[in-house]
Amino acid sequence: MSGNPLAVAEPWDLVADGYADFAPAIMRPFSARALEFASLSPTSQVVDVAAGPGTLSMLAAEQVAVVEAIDFSEPMIARLAKDAAAAGLTNIRAQVSDGQDLPFESDRFDAAFSMFGLMFFPERARGFAELFRVLRPGGTAVVSSWAPVADSPLMRMMFGALAAADPDIQEPQPNFLSLENPEVFESEMRGAGFEAVSIQRHSIALTFDSPAQMWETMVRSSAPLELMRHSVSAEVWAQRAAVMQAYLAEKYRPNCPLSTTAYLGIGHKPQD
Ligand SMILES: C[S@@+](CC[C@H](N)C(=O)[O-])C[C@H]1O[C@@H](n2cnc3c(N)ncnc32)[C@H](O)[C@@H]1O
Repeated sequence: MSGNPLAVAEPWDLVADGYADFAPAIMRPFSARALEFASLSPTSQVVDVAAGPGTLSMLAAEQVAVVEAIDFSEPMIARLAKDAAAAGLTNIRAQVSDGQDLPFESDRFDAAFSMFGLMFFPERARGFAELFRVLRPGGTAVVSSWAPVADSPLMRMMFGALAAADPDIQEPQPNFLSLENPEVFESEMRGAGFEAVSIQRHSIALTFDSPAQMWETMVRSSAPLELMRHSVSAEVWAQRAAVMQAYLAEKYRPNCPLSTTAYLGIGHKPQD
């Protein structure tokens, strides 16, 4: 089992609607980049593992025949299904499932994605093995994971605010055994059977009109913040929220770009 509090569905259930409203603006450019690596066509079938509210699924649905989206959080899948229906995207099928045990036959998909999802699995090797299994020979997998927090001014500011409010929270230290380390990332993909593996760094810069807008984005879309809010009384939360808002008001200059960086791991299932 993993000690990561984000390896279970509950924090994602709690944050689902806020995440769906605020996070895709941050996450969508990474999904758009991932789709570029997969040579999709209007007949392609793709799977989006740990799809959340469908950040990648919604973009992919405009380019391919079928998108199968799975996530272990029921509220995330409910929101994905609702938003897909509202957008008239009838080729997205959404279901609740664990990404370590996919409900699909082998050798089916032209492309398989897990954007900022597989990185949380207690058994990443099973996550990679399942992506490999469901791909057809010659198919492409793209998986993304954050670079170390130290490389991302946006993440540093967010963790700075969290640490100011709760001294038990420290800025995460680099974990060289995780996908933050591109050599581990490459070796885990190769270990699952992928060939021609490449790990690409991708950065985006975000701006906020004001510290208040940054705070709203953070508080509505962050699973760690939702966990904190649910673990303390309303009074303690109000105190911590005030400390975090004061921290951002002091450190963030309106419209100043802050970058965040991820690694995208691309691999191919060998042809038979
Ligand atoms: C940071 S969100 C990413 C959502 C989306 N892929 C995106 O790029 O915006 C992480 C998602 O992974 C899901 N997740 C984490 N572990 C999972 C697992 N073992 N099986 C399925 N989904 C999982 C969470 O429920 C959450 O929706």
